[in-house]
Amino acid sequence: MDKMLARGSGSGSTARPRPRAVLLSMVAGAAVVAATVAVASSASAGTTLGASAAESGRYFGTAVAANKLSDSTYVGILNREFNMVTPENEMKWDATEPSQGQFNYTSADRIVSHAQANGMRVRGHALAWHSQQPGWAQNLSGSALRQAMVNHVTQVATHYRGKIYAWDVVNEAFADGTSGARRDSNLQRTGNDWIEVAFRTARAADPGAKLCYNDYNTDGQNAKSNAVYAMVQDFKARGVPIDCVGFQSHFNSASPVPSDYQANLQRFANLGVDVQITELDIEGSGTTQADNYGRVVRACLAVSRCTGITVWGIRDTDSWRASGTPLLFDGSGNKKPAYTAVLNALNGGGTPPPTTTPPATTPPPTTAPPTTPPPSGSGCTATLALNQWQGGFVTYVRVTAGANPINGWTVVLTLPGGAAITNTWSAQPSGTTGTVNFRNVDYNGQLGAGASTEFGFQGTGVGPSGTATCTAR
Ligand code: G3I
Repeated sequence: MDKMLARGSGSGSTARPRPRAVLLSMVAGAAVVAATVAVASSASAGTTLGASAAESGRYFGTAVAANKLSDSTYVGILNREFNMVTPENEMKWDATEPSQGQFNYTSADRIVSHAQANGMRVRGHALAWHSQQPGWAQNLSGSALRQAMVNHVTQVATHYRGKIYAWDVVNEAFADGTSGARRDSNLQRTGNDWIEVAFRTARAADPGAKLCYNDYNTDGQNAKSNAVYAMVQDFKARGVPIDCVGFQSHFNSASPVPSDYQANLQRFANLGVDVQITELDIEGSGTTQADNYGRVVRACLAVSRCTGITVWGIRDTDSWRASGTPLLFDGSGNKKPAYTAVLNALNGGGTPPPTTTPPATTPPPTTAPPTTPPPSGSGCTATLALNQWQGGFVTYVRVTAGANPINGWTVVLTLPGGAAITNTWSAQPSGTTGTVNFRNVDYNGQLGAGASTEFGFQGTGVGPSGTATCTAR
């Protein structure tokens, strides 16, 4: 199992078994047991980025482009050095839903399959973003766009359910500069609650993935990061499911590594979320670049909830800003001084993050908590939370087992007149209007005593709220 995170660099690698790394690898490895079978290289703790990061329970990842998976130099470095991948463009809205309702996962699936076959985990990027929207979405607004976004998040997160370590659920939603305001966008104009709706929808679709907010120019304490901080604080207070904040960390001389980088990571971590460095690149060369990389890595290692670092590409020539030579390998795949600085920093130790745990079970969304006890059918209860907008809604239903374990459940509720369900996730509905029975699906029927699960549905018209009857089997 140790080999999954501490993947070898070949015959020259030296195995330095360390009990803690073994334990952490076993914990993390439980999620990708099948993948470990395909990994047979020797352990190399301390000699590759991924193995060295794993020594303190962290990951070291890279952005990957599907069309480079046939480049043997690229794949050689990828498989040797990294244990987390982020599809650079392939999971974005324009790539996964080029026509409304027509989903294309070919390129993203290729990356996920490669990761799984080589013992790497996957960061999903990005479910809801103002940029790289398909043309049809760019032309939508209001409730039509809100419904399209909810459906997109549901479909994509469901397709990858169980395969994603963390999702960038919402990307770059705040304005640059000193306003501290949300960025104006078609999504923002659907209503200020679009971000929390995206997070709730993602949680319902893939309860096992950590859900992150991701942004740039938030790497130090400034008006933009203060605004993100306030949003995360508010989400935690209201039970909106958020598990992590991503700091893109694109640096150059005009946008250097901030002096309070570590302090900024720490203050977010203190809110009770993980922090991750999600798109690191630093333009430059030689010692200066190497020193900056070392600083970033040491900052993460000093923050116990900084769970990992992802660089935004492998070789300089793979970068979205290749002319700035911002990565760890040159165009020929040779290690740069920056690589050595990162490896040395990783091997210098750090504060281990808490042992791997699934995302915290968040309380149900807090819109209109029921004032009367939920009507109980038998053995379970169901509480509803409603996100309503002009012409449409999403209802989230939390099913909680009573004093005994249950093997299945059915929730019965009646939709207001004129309302119609357009899609449901994590339950099987009997119909779309009037009184509807929602039956569990195969993975969420069994609940221990007092345990709960969530399903949801989206519709047109006015949605139901309050409570519903739940009957256990
Ligand atoms: O693949 C097509 C190619 O077929 C076509 O001929 C060519 C013509 O322009 O475009 C190619 O697609 C480009 C794609 O990168 C792949 O290279 C897109 O135009 C280009 O827009 C796209 O840029 C990506 C950019 O996001 C788009 O916003 C970069 O690769 C990607 O690195 C970058 O990543 C973003 C993160 O998602 C969010 N944070 C910032 C980061 C850097 O900008």
